[in-house]
Amino acid sequence: MNRIIAPSMLSADFGHLERDTRMIDASAAQWVHIDVMDGVFVPNISFGFPVMKPIRQATSKVLDVHLMIVEPERYVERFVEAGADLVTIHYEATSDPAGCIERIRRAGAKAGISIKPATPVETLRDLLPAVDLVLVMSVEPGFGGQSFIEGSLAKVAALREMVDRQGLPTIIEVDGGISAANARAVYDAGADAVVAGSAVFKAADPAAEIVRILEA
Ligand code: DX5
Ligand code: ZN
Repeated sequence: MNRIIAPSMLSADFGHLERDTRMIDASAAQWVHIDVMDGVFVPNISFGFPVMKPIRQATSKVLDVHLMIVEPERYVERFVEAGADLVTIHYEATSDPAGCIERIRRAGAKAGISIKPATPVETLRDLLPAVDLVLVMSVEPGFGGQSFIEGSLAKVAALREMVDRQGLPTIIEVDGGISAANARAVYDAGADAVVAGSAVFKAADPAAEIVRILEA
């Protein structure tokens, strides 16, 4: 499978959201990662629906929405209406992950499930056939700019094996602390897609950095 990169808008300049989205739209990146935080599931608040609109209007690329919110089932339809192509919820954030996944699909988007660093991949064994994507967190969710947790590579490899052994088309995405320095290890461990926030937006030439990560 071809490598995918999803630059995270969390590290964009919110005073120039349209400009930064258009930059990604014109770049080699295939997806745009959107981090929604509620201050409850994670100790930080980012943004919600109003910010989805200018992003959606400025790009035709895949909007990859990562919900770090409790009880995501209360909001998934609204994120699909706001233009999400892919909605990922956290396994730890709901008492009914399977029901929530089903609602995302019924609303017309692809559905993903994410696990925090302490949640083992085996937890997802039964859910795997029901999801389009698994998002492995390689930092504690909540903030951009953290260091990659090395133990995540073994989780990605274990997940790759589970997915392949079951013959599933599940996309494996990894999020947190990824740059051109470690992207190769993440892809080699079995990731299809990587998220990169600070590495892209803090680079002098973000579009070139996206290519560096893709070709790492
Ligand atoms: C963290 C978010 C990440 C974050 C990644 O909770 O889910 O998507 O934006 O940022 P970097 O690439 O800077 O670690
Ligand atoms: Zn994210």
